Amino acid sequence: MKEQLSDIRAQALAALEAAPDSAQLEQLRVRYLGKKGELTNLLKQMGQLPPDQRPAMGQLANEVRAALEAALERRAQALEQQALEQRLAAEAVDVTIPGKPPRLGHRHPMSIALGEIEQVFVGMGFTVLDGPEIELAQLNFDRLNAEEGHPSRDWSDTFYFDTDSRVMLRSQTSPMQVRAMDSMPLPIRIIAPGRVYRKDEVDATHSPMFHQVEGMVIDKGVTMADLKGTLNTVVEQLYGAGTRTRFRPHHFPFTEPSCEMDVQCHKCAGAGCPTCKGEGWIELLGAGMVHPRVLEMAGIDPQVYSGWAFGIGLERTAMRRFKIADLRLIFENDVRFLEQF
Ligand code: PHE
Repeated sequence: MKEQLSDIRAQALAALEAAPDSAQLEQLRVRYLGKKGELTNLLKQMGQLPPDQRPAMGQLANEVRAALEAALERRAQALEQQALEQRLAAEAVDVTIPGKPPRLGHRHPMSIALGEIEQVFVGMGFTVLDGPEIELAQLNFDRLNAEEGHPSRDWSDTFYFDTDSRVMLRSQTSPMQVRAMDSMPLPIRIIAPGRVYRKDEVDATHSPMFHQVEGMVIDKGVTMADLKGTLNTVVEQLYGAGTRTRFRPHHFPFTEPSCEMDVQCHKCAGAGCPTCKGEGWIELLGAGMVHPRVLEMAGIDPQVYSGWAFGIGLERTAMRRFKIADLRLIFENDVRFLEQF
């Protein structure tokens, strides 16, 4: 029995040492140390030994078992280490291979144009506000003095969500005037850029979705002169010192008086050319003094406070800034177009 034990030990140790992978190692464990394994079988025969030999043989058997278990453990660890090293080698990244340069994006021409406008106004102490594109007709129209029946409320012009015409895609950024007056302490100096929606057919100068930047100042003693002075300064910053502006009377329900502001054509300096359709001037924005009724509806006393507001179309500004002839290019996201800015 002693010989059998040392045979098993020698054989098993050699086999374990040579096991090429963990599956075969497991087979060897079952073969030698398993319930029906060779060592176990041998131990079952211990009972047949003369009693005085049993302790010594038992001890030897335990030594063999311990030696096999240790060898098994060692081999398992070695195989694991080997597998890890193989994986690391296989998955190694060669950091010396030249990389593919990532294609860097850049800002959209609309974002550039907006950024320039924002910078001018922030420099003058204005706060930039963000507002919802889904708006209440109450704020888009009623609170802006455009009562029930006003033509701009018509279903043919405006995207409504409900048959009662109460919730809509805002048709202008002007409801941000109301939101600012409702939520901010006086005095107020804000601009509010964002998307607006109207039922317009798509062509070279129209889109059912476009962008406006709203601006508003409310303070004591604010006059039309402040409006003109501020907008003239903005225009000079955007289009260069000495750029002339022209204010024409106009009508908006929420401003009184109202006006439109033109800038002198940058192409012909006012002489008249195709860019300005022979006018010498290009229409830039609508503006006016905030209507006393609009102030009153916001709980502001028009005897104490006054204000002015304007709304500028951002696409037109960007198109002029970057000499883009067709509005559709701005929204089609053709990379060949966008890469030029
Ligand atoms: N909301 C007006 C428009 O969409 C522009 C405007 C804004 C006019 C503020 C006056 C004051 O045409």
